[in-house]
Amino acid sequence: MMVFMKKTEFFQHITQVRRSVLNWYRKNRRDLPWRHTRDPYCVLVSEIMLQQTQVSRVLIKYQEFLTTFPSVQDLADAKPSEVIKVWAGLGYNRRALYLQKTAKAVVATYHGMFPSDLQQLKQLPGIGDYTARAILSFAFGKSLPMMDTNHRRFYQRVLFGMNSKKDAELLLAAEHVLPRKRAYDWNQALMDFGSLVCLTGEPRCEDCPLQRYCKAYPSVLKIKKTKKPHTKKSIPFRETDRYIRGRIIEQLRQVDVCSLLDLLQIFQEFNDVRVRRIIEDLAREELLVKRGNRIQLP
Ligand code: ADE
Repeated sequence: MMVFMKKTEFFQHITQVRRSVLNWYRKNRRDLPWRHTRDPYCVLVSEIMLQQTQVSRVLIKYQEFLTTFPSVQDLADAKPSEVIKVWAGLGYNRRALYLQKTAKAVVATYHGMFPSDLQQLKQLPGIGDYTARAILSFAFGKSLPMMDTNHRRFYQRVLFGMNSKKDAELLLAAEHVLPRKRAYDWNQALMDFGSLVCLTGEPRCEDCPLQRYCKAYPSVLKIKKTKKPHTKKSIPFRETDRYIRGRIIEQLRQVDVCSLLDLLQIFQEFNDVRVRRIIEDLAREELLVKRGNRIQLP
């Protein structure tokens, strides 16, 4: 869209887009606890939790986690088993270990002070491009765009319509659209806009203040109309490895130590070979340790 628009048209367009989003956000913003802090550690914790877990679940855990580990040093010093225990209810437990690895690296390399440089942040274990940008924007107030799934969908639809673009191109376009002095609000606004209006499968175009400025409107509405009912057979969650992994870790949270035989007995509804293999996977990922016959959290 950038290529075919005159310069003045382009600036008018982005001005309207910015104004519409920020106006919408003023009226519809969610009051979330991680929006009341500029501490990079708290921002990191919230962003890692939010990566694969719904806001409603993170709301329950965020404060408890920070009460248990109030600083990056506290998290770095904790026993991994304590971190995994506090992570209960959030799922994808490996994130808890990555988060602690990041904390250890911040303490070891930067004396517990987070760097405010994109490349340095990205070199920390467990921090990718998105998380690094989130820390820079939400903690250090830097004016730069970010690309989580909500941002991606927004830029793709509004700026390029149904003509699918790669992240690098979206990020380049986002650099132009980002309102320099309101970058924090803008980046947070797109989270809410993507979760409440510009939804993946069921976009609420009828409530969208950007209808007139969106390159995907009205074609995007076809997503709704052509959405097929689920025909592909998906495996019920209770039959997935992820479910069994979560249950094994939950068991170890409850009882601290188990024998292999105990675990095989508890999970007898699943095939022994499978349960043994999952235990091996968890051990390799350092989510549990095996000492002789004893299996426990690390
Ligand atoms: N998902 C990821 N980061 C978020 C944030 N800061 N607010 C709401 N949802 C998010």
